[in-house]
Amino acid sequence: MRIFVTGGSGLLGSKVAEFAVERGYDVYSGYHNHKPEFGKAVKFDLADADGIAKVISEVRPDVIIHSAALTDVDRCEVEKDLAYRINAEGTRAVAEAARKLNAFLVYVSTDYVFDGVRGMYREEDETNPVNHYGYTKLAGEQHCQDFCIARTCVIYGAKPASGKVNFVLWLIDRLEKGESVRIVTDQFITPTLNTNLAKMILECAERRLKGIFHLAGATRVSRFEFAKEIAEVFGLDENLIIPSKMDEINWIAKRPRDSSLDVSKAMEYLKEKPFDLRKALKVLKKELFGG
Ligand SMILES: NC(=O)c1ccc[n+]([C@@H]2O[C@H](COP(=O)([O-])OP(=O)(O)OC[C@H]3O[C@@H](n4cnc5c(N)ncnc54)[C@H](OP(=O)(O)O)[C@@H]3O)[C@@H](O)[C@H]2O)c1
Repeated sequence: MRIFVTGGSGLLGSKVAEFAVERGYDVYSGYHNHKPEFGKAVKFDLADADGIAKVISEVRPDVIIHSAALTDVDRCEVEKDLAYRINAEGTRAVAEAARKLNAFLVYVSTDYVFDGVRGMYREEDETNPVNHYGYTKLAGEQHCQDFCIARTCVIYGAKPASGKVNFVLWLIDRLEKGESVRIVTDQFITPTLNTNLAKMILECAERRLKGIFHLAGATRVSRFEFAKEIAEVFGLDENLIIPSKMDEINWIAKRPRDSSLDVSKAMEYLKEKPFDLRKALKVLKKELFGG
C-alpha cells in the first residue's frame, strides 16, 4: 500500500509516517518548510491547489492521511485568507485528488469545530466554531464527507522534525528549570498522545473506515489538572504550577471553554483504543527517556 502523509514534519504526521514505514508501506511524506525524517520527502504547498493536484497525481497513493494545516490558532485569526486557503481550499484540493485516484482519505480535524459551551462532544453533535481556525477546519470537513474525518484534541508528544514544542514538552522544560507557570483551571480538554493517535488514524486508513471519528485521549481534564498530572508522572515540582483563569490570557483568537471529545465510538470500533491520561503520559515518558 502506498500512503501519502501530508504534514509529515508535524507533531502528528511525523508519527503516522514513522509507523507506516515500520508497517512496511510505501510512504511519501509531504512537507512545506521542514524536511520529514520518515518516508520519501515531498515538498508542496497547501496554498497552491494546482500544485497539490500535480504532486498527488504523481505519487499515486492508495491512501492519503491529510494531517497538514495552518495550526497556529492566533495566526489564523490574523491571516484569515491564508488560513482559509490552506485549511479549507487546500483540503478541497487534496480530497478532489484522492477521488480522481480512487484513493482513501483520512482528514485530521479538530475539537475547535465546537463552541465549547457543553464539552464531551460526540460525532453527531452540532458544530459551531468560535474562531477562524475552527471555521476553516470545519470548511475542510465539508470537502471530505465521503471519507474519514478524524477529529482530535490538544496533541502532545516527542518533538517532530519541525521542532515545534507542545504543551507537555514546554511544561517539563519550565518545571525542570524550577520556573513557575500559570495554567488555567477553567479550560477543559481531552489531551491526546501523538503516537496513540497516529496508530488510531492508521487503523482507520487500513480498514477504510468512513465517517466522523473522535480520536482523542480518554480523559477530560482542565489544563491545570493536565499540568499537575504531567508533573506527577515526570517527577517534577507541582507547587510551581499556579492556577489562573482563561480571561487573564491575551489570546488573539477566542478559545472554546470545554472542547473535550467523547471517544466512545473509537473505544467501540477500534482495536487501538484511546489511552487514558495516566497511561499516555507513562508511555510518553518511556518514549522520551526509555526504561
Ligand atoms: N496540535 C493540536 O493540538 C491539534 C488539535 C486538534 C487538531 N489538530 C489537527 O491535527 C493536525 C496535525 O496537527 P499537528 O499539531 O501535528 O501540526 P503541526 O505540528 O503544527 O504541523 C503542521 C504540518 O503542516 C505542514 N504545513 C503547514 N502549512 C503547510 C502548507 N502551506 N503546505 C504544506 N504543508 C504545510 C507543516 O509543514 P512544515 O513544518 O514543513 O512547514 C507541518 O508538517 C492538523 O490538521 C491540526 O489541525 C491539531
